[in-house]
Amino acid sequence: MNFELKTLDLHAAATHKTDALIILVSAKDTTIGKDPLSQLIAEARKSGDLDATPAKLLSVWRPQGVSTQRVVFVSSGDGSARVVRQAVTAAVVALKSAKPAHLTLCLTDASEHRLQVAAQAVADASYVYTATKPSAKAAVLTRVVLALPTAEKTQAAKHAFELARAQVAGVSLAKEWGNRPPNHGTPTHLAGVAKALGKKAGMHCQVLGPKEIEKLGMGSFAAVARGSVEPLRFIVLQYNGAAKSVAPTVLVGKGITFDSGGISLKPGPGMDEMKFDMCGAASVLGTFEALSHLKPAINVVGLIPTCENMPDGTALKPGDVITSMSGQTIEVLNTDAEGRLILCDALTYATRFKPRAVIDIATLTGACVISLGHVRSGLFSPSDDLANALFAAGEASLDLCWRLPLDEEYAEGLKSNFADVANVAGREGGSITAAKFLQRFAKDYPWAHLDIAGSAWKSGAAKGATGRPVGLLLQYLLGTVETAASAKTAPKKTAKKATGRAAKA
Ligand code: BES
Ligand code: MN
Ligand code: ZN
Repeated sequence: MNFELKTLDLHAAATHKTDALIILVSAKDTTIGKDPLSQLIAEARKSGDLDATPAKLLSVWRPQGVSTQRVVFVSSGDGSARVVRQAVTAAVVALKSAKPAHLTLCLTDASEHRLQVAAQAVADASYVYTATKPSAKAAVLTRVVLALPTAEKTQAAKHAFELARAQVAGVSLAKEWGNRPPNHGTPTHLAGVAKALGKKAGMHCQVLGPKEIEKLGMGSFAAVARGSVEPLRFIVLQYNGAAKSVAPTVLVGKGITFDSGGISLKPGPGMDEMKFDMCGAASVLGTFEALSHLKPAINVVGLIPTCENMPDGTALKPGDVITSMSGQTIEVLNTDAEGRLILCDALTYATRFKPRAVIDIATLTGACVISLGHVRSGLFSPSDDLANALFAAGEASLDLCWRLPLDEEYAEGLKSNFADVANVAGREGGSITAAKFLQRFAKDYPWAHLDIAGSAWKSGAAKGATGRPVGLLLQYLLGTVETAASAKTAPKKTAKKATGRAAKA
């Protein structure tokens, strides 16, 4: 999907060539122009067909004096980001049956601040999966014009536009790979995506296989992969946008390309959805895609342990005790709690980068879906600064999360008579006990964990990956640019201070 930024007021929009025109109408905007579109708005308002009700639609076919066949007016309500998203989504959905290839969105009232939300909403609402369904290609929207009435030439609008475009590209990549059927999205396929990213400017990619993983002592990760014929991969992606001396943020993504549960086999119905168990990994790849567009002055490392979780004669069994890279032994009481087993070794590996912060992203627990549903991702961190920064990034990008606790008492159930730690506790507070397990391996740096089990994909008729939390991660990372810069340029004494601050958030 190609995005373009244009200056178009309603007067110019009337003669603009496009397949469909969406016009965001604000209740605040009461100036009535003489052009046909403004006149239409004024009349529709008078008749009550267009009011300030958020996302209320009015579809018009071949309006007089307008070049476009289809025009959809939609109320942007109070103009908040949430309503803009809701309004744009509703309008794009209303146009779906017309299958426009070229769409123009007039943000008459919404300022450049809403470009990001509006562009993402167009991309999300018009997304069509085609990788293994070529017949769906006819419905693909190829060109989108984002039109602002006057602001095109301002720096702010251009900046917002670039950000929007990068985010859409990142989210699309995450969705695309999240959606791939498990036989078309193996660990080896994911490594291929990472290698392609690694060829872009400022990027570097290294892929480790079973032998290297054994050498590193990643006994926990290797144990999960044991039951599958697909070889595991450990992806190390690096984006270097700042000096080497600037400590990187490390993103760790869970890459289980299919989670059958292993010997602790999952029930049959809905098991296909466990192809989405690599959405954490996909979000890391998507974030790197976005970084490759924006090239911010920061350093970022992406670590992706990826494998299948399958039952087999060679598979990990309940009761097995395995040794993690950290040296801690783990009693596997349930082979379906495999995400934490592959993440713990990646968290230990992260230490070597002397990171300013490490964030893991994982479709980790069904319990998180019970707590937070599909609206907010679960956020866990012992660091208030890091948790607050991630929470704020979620609010700003509308890729929401909510902090859950990490009290020591929650770790009680992970005690084992046969190893340093068990891989599961009881059913209660399951997303928190999973986070407590991970915390044991993330002691060397400020750490946060995002449980995206409820937010990474949708079930039912709308079944498909959401590309979350690429929006949140990108917003967060861009917010670290200043701390990274001050850590690099400040004189020695203050540099220490700045690094300290950066290390916290
Ligand atoms: N990938 C699943 C988590 C999951 C389940 C995400 C359902 C979304 C929907 C994870 O590997 C898993 O199976 N977790 C278990 C943990 C349990 C055995 C302690 C779960 O949540 O049931
Ligand atoms: Mn599982
Ligand atoms: Zn899983």
